[in-house]
Amino acid sequence: MDRDALQLSREQMRSLGYRVVDLLVDHFAGTEEETGQTPSRAALEEALREDLPEDGQDPHAVLDQVEEDVLPNTRRIDHPRFFGFVPGPNNFIGVLADALAAGFNVFSGTWISGAAAAQVELVTIDWLRKLCGLPEGAGGLFTSGGSMANVTALAAARHAMLDDILDDAVAYCSDQTHTSVDRALRLLGFGPDQLRRLPSDDEFRLDLEALTEAVATDRTDGHRPFCVIANAGTTNTGAVDPLPALAEVADEHDLWLHVDGAYGAPTAICKRGRERLTGLDRADSITLDPHKWLFQPFEIGGVLVRNPTHLRRAFRLEGEYLEDAMGPEEEVNFSAYGIQLTRSFRALKLWMTLKVFGRQHIAAGVRRGFERAEQAERLLRKRPEWTVVTPAQMGIVTFRCEPNGWNPLRIDALNRQLPPAINEENQRFLTKTTLDGRPVLRLCPINPRTTREDLRATIDRLDALRQTMSVS
Ligand SMILES: Cc1ncc(COP(=O)(O)O)c(C=O)c1O
Repeated sequence: MDRDALQLSREQMRSLGYRVVDLLVDHFAGTEEETGQTPSRAALEEALREDLPEDGQDPHAVLDQVEEDVLPNTRRIDHPRFFGFVPGPNNFIGVLADALAAGFNVFSGTWISGAAAAQVELVTIDWLRKLCGLPEGAGGLFTSGGSMANVTALAAARHAMLDDILDDAVAYCSDQTHTSVDRALRLLGFGPDQLRRLPSDDEFRLDLEALTEAVATDRTDGHRPFCVIANAGTTNTGAVDPLPALAEVADEHDLWLHVDGAYGAPTAICKRGRERLTGLDRADSITLDPHKWLFQPFEIGGVLVRNPTHLRRAFRLEGEYLEDAMGPEEEVNFSAYGIQLTRSFRALKLWMTLKVFGRQHIAAGVRRGFERAEQAERLLRKRPEWTVVTPAQMGIVTFRCEPNGWNPLRIDALNRQLPPAINEENQRFLTKTTLDGRPVLRLCPINPRTTREDLRATIDRLDALRQTMSVS
């Protein structure tokens, strides 16, 4: 090994590489019983704190430490019994693609440095555009995730609708909207009072009447409504806002319609998803995350814009050192359409995954997520102490344990205690959320490798744990 050149011999690279591949193969073979763990900060300080190594160590010893101290102390977000937050059920092809993208260190910010990477991104984005029903000419780019996609889309909206003048501008969304939208607007210079988080209806969808009233009142008061942000699958319950009606309101009141489909829009790949997403094709911009429900390793989010010129106008700035990089118009420089100049070749993993498995098989995997949530709902409905709060929709079911005769405070305490109790066993993982001010449990079984038995065992275990709890 030539440490000064950071260069390993071929043999060293092979032996380390094969070890890494073996680790990944074991991981993907589905033999891991546990969902990983969440140790305390103190325990990890003990395991991992050290001074910056002066002389470097044997790479196999470092890999040993990764195997012993690092990987087991992270949660397996892609485990079939990880039902919390939005799981990340990635796939091996995507992992190989990421290794290639990192290994060749492909720069996909400019055409001159990464022409084929840009072309792969153009093709893959176009596949997503078609799935979402946007017209030819619409386009977009891959981002690090949904938060970045929301910022990118809303920057385009700000530019297109306000010419970047923010005074008195207001945007609208439901109270179920992901906080990345609030953060995006904050980053773009809007104050908190420039986003109206309207109360949602009894199915946790944006209330149309509340929206039209708010727009009218704001106009009368001299504000400038410019954007409505709709959900295509909320993180809390999977609710889809009434997209066709919102598109009408947006048309009538000249508002930009951004759809945050980070979680739900990828389901446009299957028929069930498309049925739930009627009206998505009328959006001005869409966030959709392949690293959620298109089975990609983190980090790949996506943003689609009906008229990508708005992205370009919002983002294009040319430093003099980039003069050589900007070729003819058709040779797309993705750095001119978003925030990052240096961008990794994210498109490769989605492109390879879609090519290897094919649309219909990925659609089957997505459909399975819908079905698993429905199975969970059926299992819950059969149990007397358990109440379904929101039925399975878009792969999410929410529920509570409500033992007879317990007062509401005691019931809330019980439902707060159940997730940590089940999670600390490291066999299953789920999270709670809050709906109408009360804690509810939530299952998001979108991993296509989750079985019905995984769900049954999880609900059985919750039930058994509840019997051990007598919250006072
Ligand atoms: C609906 C929705 N929007 C945006 C985001 C943010 O996406 P990311 O975590 O990829 O930044 C999430 C994440 O769960 C989400 O569910």
